[in-house]
Amino acid sequence: MSRSVASGVVPADLLPYIESDEEACKLVELIDWASLPRHIAIIMDGNGRWARHQGLPRVEGHRAGITAVREVVETAARAGIETLTLYAFSAENWKRPKEEIDALMELLKEYLSRELGTMLEHSIRFESIGRLDGLPEDVQEDVRNAIAATSANDGMRFIIALNYGGRTELVDAFRAALENVRSGELDPGDLDESWIAEHLYTAGVADPDLLIRTSGELRISNFMLYQIAYAEIWVTSRLWPDFRRADLLQSIVDFQKRERRYGSVGGETG
Ligand code: IPE
Ligand code: IPE
Ligand code: MG
Repeated sequence: MSRSVASGVVPADLLPYIESDEEACKLVELIDWASLPRHIAIIMDGNGRWARHQGLPRVEGHRAGITAVREVVETAARAGIETLTLYAFSAENWKRPKEEIDALMELLKEYLSRELGTMLEHSIRFESIGRLDGLPEDVQEDVRNAIAATSANDGMRFIIALNYGGRTELVDAFRAALENVRSGELDPGDLDESWIAEHLYTAGVADPDLLIRTSGELRISNFMLYQIAYAEIWVTSRLWPDFRRADLLQSIVDFQKRERRYGSVGGETG
């Protein structure tokens, strides 16, 4: 089943999912369905603060964040977004207390076992970026199983960034380049932007068009440093556990009002 949206018509899959959500219904009318961002990437931030505001331990913020993940994944898939990348655990997040890390890994496992059905139902292709082999064995196994179980799907690509660091990713690409030069497969003069793009964890994936960050922080936190060169950045003060489908739709409405110039002079004349 193809998910591509060829016309300006609201995707039929989306309508039953949002019909009881008045805000979302209004927003879908404002979206140009023929020019969606192909790739949306999200820095899901603010779980800890959400928990603190509720007087709960940080872990409860991560648990509540799963509701937002489920809603955003389903909305994006039904809306016909080609690729959704969620930043779930950074290479720097190992600095957190062990109990918090353990809880995050447990939640990830729970998420994968609970949501595999939804992924199959919506023909979602699950993938991961980051140094997977640095994660606990059981988590690696569950991630690999979910990737294998959904690899034949042709709907939205859902990429989860785990043990991911933008700089680490560049280090890995540099190493690959040096190895290729040493083995004679690559002439240094042939190293160009497309070679680099094809040796990042995101090889074969279009760069993000829209980068969302929740919790109001105005920073990138080592996320997709190479790929976001021309991404439109959209920040909301909403904490991740409170992020809902209407927020995703609003980000698309706002994205479509931006003028992307890529270094050129844009649409103005004279
Ligand atoms: C994002 O929420 C989740 C992860 C980084 C795993 P945080 O845990 O960073 O929440 P804050 O920033 O402390 O509020
Ligand atoms: C970024 O959030 C990482 C993820 C969302 C997984 P952080 O909460 O780790 O970022 P900083 O430390 O505030 O920059
Ligand atoms: Mg944070």
